[in-house]
Amino acid sequence: MAEFDAKERGFYGNWNIGKYIADTIDDIKTRVKDKNVLLAMSGGVDSTVAAVLINKAVGAQLYCVFVDHGLLRKGEADLVETMCKEKFNINLIRVDAAGRFISRLAGVTDPEQKRKIIGEEFIRVFEDASKQIGDVTFFAQGTIYPDVVESGAGKSALVKTHHNVGGLPEKLGFSEIIEPLRMLYKSEVRQAGLELGVPEEIVWRPPFPGPGLAVRVLGEVTEEKLAIVREADAIFSEEIAAAGLGRNISQYFAVLTDMQSVGVGGGGRSYEKVIALRAINSSDFMTAAFSRVPYDVLERAAVRITSEIPRVNRVVYDITSKPPATIEWE
Ligand code: XMP
Repeated sequence: MAEFDAKERGFYGNWNIGKYIADTIDDIKTRVKDKNVLLAMSGGVDSTVAAVLINKAVGAQLYCVFVDHGLLRKGEADLVETMCKEKFNINLIRVDAAGRFISRLAGVTDPEQKRKIIGEEFIRVFEDASKQIGDVTFFAQGTIYPDVVESGAGKSALVKTHHNVGGLPEKLGFSEIIEPLRMLYKSEVRQAGLELGVPEEIVWRPPFPGPGLAVRVLGEVTEEKLAIVREADAIFSEEIAAAGLGRNISQYFAVLTDMQSVGVGGGGRSYEKVIALRAINSSDFMTAAFSRVPYDVLERAAVRITSEIPRVNRVVYDITSKPPATIEWE
């Protein structure tokens, strides 16, 4: 697809990622001059590649604010921080705001309500943190081509509010926006990331929703439930990686359902939580097919999840495609 519509995206002749990176760095330098740039870092591949690219252009004039809302995957916040600071020498302000988010989510069960709360709180935390920086002219974000197309006029009805696509710069009062990946597809962003030296672990990470694990804990979000889903997700990811399947599956994760089921073992009967595993393949995430993950990989994940996580006694695998289901469960 990327090859056929290159012209529509403004690319002519023999364009390649190396040249795109070099040209984009030049453009950013010319535009930014001696001003400062603020970037909302999520730790995902898009914002990371955007940050590394802008950092190459303007160095210490780039400030990245990374809000750790406590809803991230296992080890994610530390990985992002270490990579930015140690590998790329990026000015990263990490805000540990887990407590604020969890307390605002207390008692909330409706998925859209969760998204709304997280979106609002995110802006507040981000605003507070960016006040420490001083004068900033530019707001940068990792918008990619499908985001631009998807948020265009006339697109299908809103199924879920995707709060991290657009909106933030306007709310913060920025009119000067830098979106260095705006014309790239995901595969091209990954290629750019690899050329810029972004670690494979980040380049190949499956996409992760802005509201994070809050929409993978069905119903009310608590610290205990987050810890369970985070661990289950890490185990599933490890088994997918060990089987060498990471690059063949578009997105994979664990969901903590709001069911309990009866089990046996150890001291006798148990009545505990059910984890659902989901893996899908998709080119645009508008439709998706469930992935035929081999049974032995699923079995290893299930055995580990039920033995390593105390309050889980059952694991199920989601075999629904999109439509009719969505990719996330909430
Ligand atoms: P669904 O569940 O709508 O997901 O089929 C499609 C893709 O979008 C991601 N997703 C989100 N991303 N904020 C985001 O930034 C959200 O609220 C959100 N909800 C879903 C989902 O992970 C999948 O890649």
